[in-house]
Amino acid sequence: MIETQVDVTSAYFKANPFPFYAQLRAEAPVFPVTINMPTKQRVWLITRYSDVQDVLKDARFAKNPRNAMSPEQLKKRPWMPPMFKPLEQNMLDLDSPDHTRLRALVHKAFTPRLIEQMRDEIQALTDELLDAAEPKGGMDLIADFALPLPLTIIGRILGVPAKDNDKFHRWTKTLLSAGTNTNYVVFIPTIMRFMGYLKKLVKERRAHPKDDLITALVQTKEGSDKLSGDEVLAMIFLLLIAGHETTVNLIGSGTLALLEHPDQLEKLRCEPAIIKPAIEELLRFVCPVEMATERYAREDITIAGTTIPRGELVLAVIGSANRDANYFDNPDSLDVIRENNKHLAFGLGAHYCLGAPLSRLEGQIAISTLVRRMPNLRLRIAPDQIRWRGGIILRGLEALPVSF
Ligand code: HEM
Repeated sequence: MIETQVDVTSAYFKANPFPFYAQLRAEAPVFPVTINMPTKQRVWLITRYSDVQDVLKDARFAKNPRNAMSPEQLKKRPWMPPMFKPLEQNMLDLDSPDHTRLRALVHKAFTPRLIEQMRDEIQALTDELLDAAEPKGGMDLIADFALPLPLTIIGRILGVPAKDNDKFHRWTKTLLSAGTNTNYVVFIPTIMRFMGYLKKLVKERRAHPKDDLITALVQTKEGSDKLSGDEVLAMIFLLLIAGHETTVNLIGSGTLALLEHPDQLEKLRCEPAIIKPAIEELLRFVCPVEMATERYAREDITIAGTTIPRGELVLAVIGSANRDANYFDNPDSLDVIRENNKHLAFGLGAHYCLGAPLSRLEGQIAISTLVRRMPNLRLRIAPDQIRWRGGIILRGLEALPVSF
């Protein structure tokens, strides 16, 4: 019997969702659950690799609900505070042609060649963070290492002052907790502060251009009228969140996975050159983005014998696809030299992760440096005290106390 009341957003579930997904892949690969986001809503979980692949590439699933729902369904959508409006223009929530136009404007800033030029800067920051932690003999690997690294780097790319990093991480954390404990009393003031902050930043760059991505986005609007004011805000908002709330999970949960598999950690320590396949394997195994973001059926769509009615919400479960035994040998084993690793950690199709080269480089540098510099790295708490964050899309740790 499949547990129908399971809360897939709870911290408890996040600690080990894999047995549930294995059961779904075997017995009910298209499975309805109810999620609080922000009202109770039926969501279809897609769990087999081949179906996840199809859904991510299938244009019959829209990102923008307006392209899928009937007028009656749209009327019944939960109320959203008006200050959210501009953020609806972020490209991850749009379909072509808007999506294509917006993505074309930023993709040049994230090509593998440009990102490779940041190698020394990422290495220097990694060493700086470990230099600060080393004399203390231990750290919270999330707060002191896995988080500040991607947060600082995406902040620098965009041109967000480093002194504000903690502030905007606090805001994004509150916003991402939506769906688990949606509480408008904290949610609305947070979004207002965040929007106010972004607007001020954009205004400043308009008046005093700098060599950063926010200036480039602002000038795109002024030069060719290609980006509206709302689109600029939504783009910065998306890049800030996607740029750090994901990679923190790769470095954090990835390190935990290595600590839990000492033979694999030893292999990496003895053979640092395998860092590239090792990071691909950690991406597959820990799934920093557990589910692809929302997609809505534009028509009744049948998958694996189950029909998803028009307008309903589908979540393609990447974390399940990456453990599908039809595509990976011994999928529940961590194998840092796994070959032919066609994981879906960065998604697929039109919305394939824009930041994949950046997060790969950050992950490779962070984990290889940690393994090299901290040969006695170990957990400072009992495994049953490890706390995971609740939420819908992402999967990551609250904290990871370690000693060196
Ligand atoms: C380990 C780290 C990361 C993982 C696992 C990851 C995963 C993903 C996935 C699965 C998607 C597709 C979502 C969907 O189709 O619903 C995506 C999209 C996206 N990612 Fe990442 N991501 C990571 C890091 C980053 C970074 C560092 C950036 C910074 C630029 C970034 C920016 C984006 C953007 C802008 C999109 C939307 C692309 C579009 O709509 O065309 N990601 N990411």
